[in-house]
Amino acid sequence: MMIHKTEAEVALMKEAATLVSKTLTEVAQVLKPGMTTLQIDKICGDFVKDHKAIPSFYNYRGYPFNVCASVNDVVVHGFPNNIALKEGDIVSVDMGVILNGWHGDHAYTFILGEVSAEILQLVKVTKESLYKGIEKAITNNRVGDIAFAIQEHTERKHGYGVVRELVGHGLGRSLHEDPQVPNYGKRGTGPKLKENLVLAIEPMINLGSREVYTEDDGWTVKTRDGKVSVHFEHDVCVKRNQALILSDYSIIEAAEKANPNLNTSYY
Ligand code: MF3
Ligand code: CO
Repeated sequence: MMIHKTEAEVALMKEAATLVSKTLTEVAQVLKPGMTTLQIDKICGDFVKDHKAIPSFYNYRGYPFNVCASVNDVVVHGFPNNIALKEGDIVSVDMGVILNGWHGDHAYTFILGEVSAEILQLVKVTKESLYKGIEKAITNNRVGDIAFAIQEHTERKHGYGVVRELVGHGLGRSLHEDPQVPNYGKRGTGPKLKENLVLAIEPMINLGSREVYTEDDGWTVKTRDGKVSVHFEHDVCVKRNQALILSDYSIIEAAEKANPNLNTSYY
């Protein structure tokens, strides 16, 4: 069942999504080689609790951390750990909060220092594909239009692997609501989009093959071929002419640009 929000509810969801953006901005300010993903987890958890919100991933189906920190060949759901990040790593930080009963859930991939041109291009194209999907999140389109746009840009245009096993989703009072939002599919298929449906759109794109596996911890999803994967996620509200993006990359990007340890040369 798809749950359409009222204008007032959308405003509350924007607050939740923006709190996630502010949390990821904190990360963008301090991230550097030598830091561990457990330190990121603590920064994010503390920041959210200081803002009268709850880190929503913690204990979700037994998930044992505040954030997912997915480094290099980890696609999503990476456990924070005490391994120091190093120059040349890429890390997707995925964070969820509950604020006043409403969920925010979004993610951003950071690049530490110098990486190959092909990794820079993958990060660029994955972020672009997210916006191409968002462009289709308008009234009377279908979920398949979003899915097709993402797949078109990443798989067909650039030959990347689009992960099939994990998908975007509706968002609201629950972290995962209907509909599922795959990053692959056919135009004009799937559920029809109506105004004020809120979606978490989240392309997970592999440099190499699309094949992934889950580690024995039951969570960590990795690429089969060991090549890197990139993940970006926005919370968006379906509108008549243009989707309203509830989360905010502009503050994350400003902090990332100001941090000399992060590579922003692709945009
Ligand atoms: N953005 C991911 C999702 O929507 C994060 C979920 S992690 C979990 O599925 F731990 F909460 F499951
Ligand atoms: Co999500």
